[in-house]
Amino acid sequence: MEKFYVTTAIDYVNAAPHIGHAYEKIAADIVARYQRLRGKEVFFLTGVDEHGSKVEKTAQAAGKTPQVFCDEMSEKFQIAWSSLLISNDYFIRTTEERHKKVVQEVFRRMTEKGDVYKGKYSGLYCEGCEDHLRERDLDESGNCPNHKRPPRIFEEENYFFRLSGYKEALRKWLTEDSGVVRPEGRRKEVLNQLDDEEFGDFSISRDRNSLKWGIPVPGDPQQVIYVWIDALTNYITGAGFLTDETLFKRFWPADLHLLGKDITKFHAIYWPAILMSLDLPLPRLVFGHGFITVEGQKMSKTLGNVMDPLYLVEQYGADAIRYFLFASNSFDQDGDFSRHEFISLVNSHLANSLGNLLNRTLSLIERNAGGKVPGGMVNQASLSLARQAEVDYCRLMDELEFAKAIESAFALVNEANRYLNEQKPWTQFKEGKLEEGGSVLLTALELLKQAAVLLLPVTPGLSARILEQLGFTGPFDGLTFKDVLFQETIPSGQPIVNRGPVFQRIDETESAATTV
Ligand code: MSP
Repeated sequence: MEKFYVTTAIDYVNAAPHIGHAYEKIAADIVARYQRLRGKEVFFLTGVDEHGSKVEKTAQAAGKTPQVFCDEMSEKFQIAWSSLLISNDYFIRTTEERHKKVVQEVFRRMTEKGDVYKGKYSGLYCEGCEDHLRERDLDESGNCPNHKRPPRIFEEENYFFRLSGYKEALRKWLTEDSGVVRPEGRRKEVLNQLDDEEFGDFSISRDRNSLKWGIPVPGDPQQVIYVWIDALTNYITGAGFLTDETLFKRFWPADLHLLGKDITKFHAIYWPAILMSLDLPLPRLVFGHGFITVEGQKMSKTLGNVMDPLYLVEQYGADAIRYFLFASNSFDQDGDFSRHEFISLVNSHLANSLGNLLNRTLSLIERNAGGKVPGGMVNQASLSLARQAEVDYCRLMDELEFAKAIESAFALVNEANRYLNEQKPWTQFKEGKLEEGGSVLLTALELLKQAAVLLLPVTPGLSARILEQLGFTGPFDGLTFKDVLFQETIPSGQPIVNRGPVFQRIDETESAATTV
């Protein structure tokens, strides 16, 4: 059986999860569920990044010890992800004992390799980015362009990683197989950064006087390991490096690291360099996705528009959120969450096109076919359209073109509606053409079934409800494209289960989106 290992960036726990974090976790979940449908053995890792000065300070301001604060926040993230039906196989926390040991071992091995040396760091540091900045990275007011705050200036002894020794190998990796970092624009950006002469060895530790909340450098308790070395290492800890060699052998290297465009550098330069230093294979694909804005604006506490995924799920359900975020936005570009657009899209697609289709098909079956899947012939033209849709869908999913993949699955819903309207089975039944009417309904059911399966990765709850109403028994998490359910026409005589609307229309005047 083929394997697939997918990861997300791990979120800082200094603030509650927002819709931007959710966007990435849902994307990884869509990939994981899709790869499982393809019959692959999937390992899906997500988690939280708990060390560093930001977290330390926020905990202090909340009057809590960093560990207690992290325990509480980590719980919040896990609750949010489970409400969004995220099917991760493991949730990693960087304060786990086994992770701390792995990070220290990584540091030790890089040192043994001759890639680590002690030196003086003097420069700028942005706590928001947890990144070292140069004068020319700042905006005209002397602030970090991302966080609009002046960076800290400091000078201290640090350990450095000899990135300079890996620049050539990195360039080769990035250019020889041009598919390893995507989208293409991000790969070019990373290559430009590598060509910059000033971009070289980087500090990988901090003096305990400036940072306490972190993993100590082995053999030098005065130094704490840089949060990015700690964080990136989660991808191997989570897959069992040094603790579960069978798991690690099976799943490493990662097939896909998903992360936001702002942190591509860390994943496409620092991380592969660390792996080279450890003599470990490099990830197969690093993908830097776009950012989600809210009502056209970047989320910020000052604007009060930080959108809480848990509230959204409570108000609208996980399927609606998942569907909107990925049907309306191209994954490699920035997208927007607008309440009006959200409600109008999900009402039109999920309540009208899909929900009504199921509803009217099942009502017709109850009235004319005794509540069972009728016998007959599936319309061949509709069937070949379905085959094509499946091929397109898989190609687009492989390319992480979620919006287009969803479109190709939805083409089956549109085809079923078109066919029903064209054939008018209600008239056929009235005229006593029972066989014709039955075949039309059978066609609609078959298209609905295939659409529901193709949409399983995006709307797992909704798809399951549809399949159940079609008379199939769940759970459907272990389903693959090879299963009889998908391969063979829905069996005649199978009792349908009409439970009413599978997707409740959202009334725009009644609901209000909530921010955190
Ligand atoms: N802790 C680091 C990542 C370490 S990975 C080894 C970090 N954390 S974060 O909480 O700031 O961001 C977590 C992820 O969410 C990142 O991939 C980031 O790009 C993504 N997003 C943060 N805001 C986002 C949006 N508004 N939209 C989409 N993704 C966003 O960086």
